[in-house]
Amino acid sequence: MKILAISGSGRQASTNTAMLRTIAAIACGQHEVTVDSDLARLPVFTPDREGDALPAEVLRFADLIRAHDALIIASPEYVRAIPGGLKNAIDWLVSREELVGKPMALAHASHRGNDMLAQLRLVLSTVSDGFSPGNFLRIDLINMTPEQIDARLRLPENTQAIHAFLAALYQQVAASTAVG
Ligand SMILES: Cc1cc2nc3c(=O)[nH]c(=O)nc-3n(C[C@H](O)[C@H](O)[C@H](O)COP(=O)(O)O)c2cc1C
Repeated sequence: MKILAISGSGRQASTNTAMLRTIAAIACGQHEVTVDSDLARLPVFTPDREGDALPAEVLRFADLIRAHDALIIASPEYVRAIPGGLKNAIDWLVSREELVGKPMALAHASHRGNDMLAQLRLVLSTVSDGFSPGNFLRIDLINMTPEQIDARLRLPENTQAIHAFLAALYQQVAASTAVG
């Protein structure tokens, strides 16, 4: 299965991005996971540039999503909400077909951020019936370095949780393929 793992944080030492990178390493051999932590490359959304006037970066992002079987999204909470860059990326895709039915699940690197998670669940279930709120991986990695995060995620109980999360995502993809 080809998975695109999108981080809502552009921060160099982001805990969410580090978590996604280690998930990619743990999945390696079974699944191909590509991490995208550069949503800042997308211009600010305006409906005036949808359709034929679509910016090239947005088209590339849409193509990237189409080329993957499933999405994992991991994001910090900013001011009790979804970070602007992540919401902006979703806004660009909302009138298009790439997210429709796309299997996706949330991962989260903090014990905090429940307001953002509630909003993201609402937004993702609005844009895709492939979003599964029940498949959720949450591991508290707040204030840890990427090296510490990698070590924490490789503890047997966390690796097991990651494999279970990926297996459930695989089931989402299998179910969507059977329906489609
Ligand atoms: C601008 C800004 C706003 C934030 N607002 C909140 C917030 O409302 N609630 C919260 O729990 N954390 C808030 N935080 C903290 C981040 O959500 C938290 O540090 C998160 O773990 C960072 O994720 P990252 O390591 O992937 O960048 C905020 C951080 C920033 C930079």
